[in-house]
Amino acid sequence: MKGMPPVSDELSYVKWFRNAAPYINNHKGKTFVLMFGGDALHDPNFANIVHDIVLLQSLGVRLVLIHGARPQIEERLALRGTTPRFHKNVRLTDESVIHAVKDAVGSIRSDIEAMFSTGIANSPMHGARIKVCGGNFVAAKPIGVIDGVDHERTGEVRKVHAESIKQLLDDGNIVLLSPIGYSGTGEVFNLHVEDLAVSASVALRADKLVVLSSQNGLHDEDGQLVRQCNLAQAKSCIAEQRLRHAVVGACEAGVPRSHIISYSEDGALLRELFTREGCGTLVSQDPYESLRPAKLDDIPGILALLQPLEDQGVLVKRSRELLENDVNKFFVIELDGLIIGCAALYHYDGSDQAELACITVHPDYREGSRGERLLEHIESLAKREGFSRLFVLTTRTAHWFQERGFNAEALANLPQQKQALYNYQRNSKAFIKPL
Ligand SMILES: CC(C)(COP(=O)(O)OP(=O)(O)OC[C@H]1O[C@@H](n2cnc3c(N)ncnc32)[C@H](O)[C@@H]1OP(=O)(O)O)[C@@H](O)C(=O)NCCC(=O)NCCS
Repeated sequence: MKGMPPVSDELSYVKWFRNAAPYINNHKGKTFVLMFGGDALHDPNFANIVHDIVLLQSLGVRLVLIHGARPQIEERLALRGTTPRFHKNVRLTDESVIHAVKDAVGSIRSDIEAMFSTGIANSPMHGARIKVCGGNFVAAKPIGVIDGVDHERTGEVRKVHAESIKQLLDDGNIVLLSPIGYSGTGEVFNLHVEDLAVSASVALRADKLVVLSSQNGLHDEDGQLVRQCNLAQAKSCIAEQRLRHAVVGACEAGVPRSHIISYSEDGALLRELFTREGCGTLVSQDPYESLRPAKLDDIPGILALLQPLEDQGVLVKRSRELLENDVNKFFVIELDGLIIGCAALYHYDGSDQAELACITVHPDYREGSRGERLLEHIESLAKREGFSRLFVLTTRTAHWFQERGFNAEALANLPQQKQALYNYQRNSKAFIKPL
């Protein structure tokens, strides 16, 4: 039994593996762009990252790696006695600098290719036959003259030849892109690795951009790691500017999700991609959506939401004045400044029943569990306020309520006050849910 792990370790491994199954299925066949700066290559954990990349590839993830080269370029310039020049934090690339860039990039590429070629027995690479490919897939153009300063060979991405890259991915290769691009005039340009990562992710319609960074993610004002955020929140987080630019820029341009994880933390890539908690920051495209108490300013939005349904007879007509009086009973879901859902909670004197009224979701946003979210909110509020039952009157939505624990009840079981107001012409049905 020598060398066997304790049974508890084996069981937790089995549990972990089972929990990872949905992620494995989900990631299969997806395209992930992984970006890391030149500093990551100097980190002792980089060899582990290579092993984890190989594992991702074995699980059917299509991978494009993009490396940076800043420290390696600096080293070469220092050896040549060249002082680096910058304008507004952007490197100026003259002829001697572009030589250092080509030199650094060539050397990094061979180092990375060598790491992916290791296959010694008992290593995580054993049995893996990984082909790392590259090519002239990035067309570049000069940044040009800014504030009178000629940036010479500092360029920006003009086009990423996504179809050629996809063909290599289809053939089971990992594609490695370097931060250089070529112009139609045959010149080589020095690119920002972050810009290249965004452009490549967008051109490839990647499912994710994962940035391996010296930081473990984005942080809030109190220095706490933000595990998950949308674009608006990401923009207000504390982060190195270029790092934030990459993750926000990719999502803004259509990449559904981007992640920042630490390159120094062993297993960070696997934890981020195969566990619910993750270990870095996930930025998603989803716009900010909040459920909050309504304010007077929301009345026009609520009216616009309710009116079509009132016209169809689904909801009882409510005047602007009535809504203004009752605004403190209303809750809304706001999405990017638009009111897309609402619900209200009404009380009746001396009754242990509260009424759920006006629950509505804009037709464009239905079937996204927003109705459910509004109902849960109203239910928990009614419970907190000491009510033991929640009732609703409906003409056309009976089944939606029944499927959520409401039971059909006789009118006589509603609070007296409500019975007095009942509109017999509408002939609504009453449903009650015990809380
Ligand atoms: C009822 C309503 C609020 C649900 O909002 P939603 O955000 O789409 O709800 P959810 O995503 O939580 O639920 C969607 C489910 O409800 C079902 N559903 C929607 N309207 C329904 C109805 N009238 N009767 C029965 N089921 C209904 C959908 O088919 C979907 O079912 P599925 O999960 O099996 O696919 C929304 O359809 C609405 O605004 N309807 C018009 C207003 C209304 O009738 N309000 C009630 C007045 S008392």
